[in-house]
Amino acid sequence: MEKLGNWKRSHTCGALRKENAGAEVTLMGWVDSWRDHGGVFFVDLRDRYGKTQIVFNPEAGEMYQKAKDLRNEFVVAVRGQVALRPTGMINKNIATGEIEVAAKELKILNPAKVTPFEVSAYVEAAEELRLKYRYLDLRRPDMQRNLLIRNELYKTTRAYLDRHGFVDIETPILMRSTPEGARDYLVPSRLYKGSFYALPQSPQMYKQILMVAGMDRYFQIVRCFRDEDTRADRQPEFTQIDIEMSFVDQEDVMALVEGLTAEMMQNILGRKISLPLPRLTYAEAMARFGSDKPDLRFGLEIRDVTALAGQSEFKIFVETVTGGKTVQALCLPGGAKYSRKQIDDLAQYATQMGAKGLVTLKVTESGWEGGAAKFFSSGVIGKVNAAWPAKAGDLLLFVADEEEKAQKVLGALRLRLAQEEKLIPENSFNFLWVVDFPLLEFDEEEKRWMARHHPFTAPKDEDIALVDTAPEKVRAKAYDLVLNGTEIAGGSIRIHQRELQKKMFNLLKLSDAEAENKFGFLLEAFEYGAPPHGGIAFGFDRLVMLFAGRKSIRDVIAFPKTNAALSLMDGAPSPVDEKQLRELGIKLA
Ligand code: AMO
Repeated sequence: MEKLGNWKRSHTCGALRKENAGAEVTLMGWVDSWRDHGGVFFVDLRDRYGKTQIVFNPEAGEMYQKAKDLRNEFVVAVRGQVALRPTGMINKNIATGEIEVAAKELKILNPAKVTPFEVSAYVEAAEELRLKYRYLDLRRPDMQRNLLIRNELYKTTRAYLDRHGFVDIETPILMRSTPEGARDYLVPSRLYKGSFYALPQSPQMYKQILMVAGMDRYFQIVRCFRDEDTRADRQPEFTQIDIEMSFVDQEDVMALVEGLTAEMMQNILGRKISLPLPRLTYAEAMARFGSDKPDLRFGLEIRDVTALAGQSEFKIFVETVTGGKTVQALCLPGGAKYSRKQIDDLAQYATQMGAKGLVTLKVTESGWEGGAAKFFSSGVIGKVNAAWPAKAGDLLLFVADEEEKAQKVLGALRLRLAQEEKLIPENSFNFLWVVDFPLLEFDEEEKRWMARHHPFTAPKDEDIALVDTAPEKVRAKAYDLVLNGTEIAGGSIRIHQRELQKKMFNLLKLSDAEAENKFGFLLEAFEYGAPPHGGIAFGFDRLVMLFAGRKSIRDVIAFPKTNAALSLMDGAPSPVDEKQLRELGIKLA
């Protein structure tokens, strides 16, 4: 191992071009690969800017011998002269492909063990290995690119919000536990044994209090913590672009976010999007796409065929309809080619998603083909077909159930079919707003209404009267931004008057005491002059994932957790010393 001494990098490994030919340079980086051509010894030197080919000639004697010991991932410094590569040796695939550096001096700054997987864009290593040796994984150019895109998104966000008068304010990481939605991560207090801090699921209450404090326009790129099941687009700790504004209504928040979204698209991907972004109401999104975050990059729309199904002789459908439920269907163009096995798989998937069954019928020139076909008159067949319209060779898929259940099952099938049939165009970015969410949802387990977004979300003015009479019909001033079928942001206008807030708590069956215990500080703040306010939060990791064209947010987070919420590199979570527990007054059960 040698010392850096007074050597300074003159260029990065991605910088040199043919214009630099003849220059004396000093490069430092990692050995990306080496080739011993039984005379000349080649090394590709890598850093995050690129790769440069270094040439060691046998005439160089001692240095040449030293170079021949270089192996992948050694950290080295090289001094040498830039030379044009012979015409046949030019590599058009890399930016430095027209030159090479003829080495004159070499320092091995640090050797490296043989890595558990090759540090290369082309080697697919198991994710557990990649996470355990994350520093090696992050040396890969495509992973570095993800972090750089992330950095560009931070910069665009900060610049845009700064220009629009937003103030970046930090809020506590150790806060009071106010479980609502996901489970809290708890932190025991040493000074107050038996009491706990909680890590914020979001800074929701703090940002609202900042509005009461008169800060007017707040934002923060902030870590949030939720102890919930992890998925490809969900992590126990994740980042939000959190925004709150005073004296605004829904349209103001949406316009601000649209501007930010357009600027991100322009700066990161060089693409123009036209504003305003399209909108769907929740009801329409569910009815047509069976999802509150519909992917509109393809069609395959759901149709409600309840009335027509009721006119058939098909017992399941007729009973469904007389029982007040619905029959909904999808039409897969060309789907009649599906084999028995493929259709069984679809039916099994539908059942997994909660359907009681899946009825499939193939469309032919003369009608329908399939077990249930004989129960439908040609008149009904014609009218059902007309709903899309379906044509010979298509496959119809029916689900009979309660409206929202049937919609959700078909929504899931719609996605699966689109993937199987490759109907989703790559490289297209489809944004839309989903608005007019129901304010509440009924929790069957707890037998009570729950806030769909959070308990401070305001109902639409024209629906306030329904809060007492028909809570299920009340729509919220809540809005989600969806990109390619992923919810990338969600927000709402808040309730800022104590009376309406009380009414909400009553509806949610939160007693005064409970409300006081959970949210007392916010409610109290509201009594000292709360302005009308509202906001939104982007799921930042999801945004980066989609901009970077990745399928998992783990790829755009430097040190993510596994699906089992483990950090494989540092081994968290881990047991702690008995002494630490004693100090906290904790005894494990
Ligand atoms: P919400 O809970 O909808 O709203 O969260 C906002 C956005 O954060 C992202 N998100 C997640 N990303 C990764 N992993 C997770 N576990 C995870 N959970 C949520 C989603 C989501 O749209 N305080 C409110 C915002 C507001 O009303 O202003 C909030 O947190 O992309």
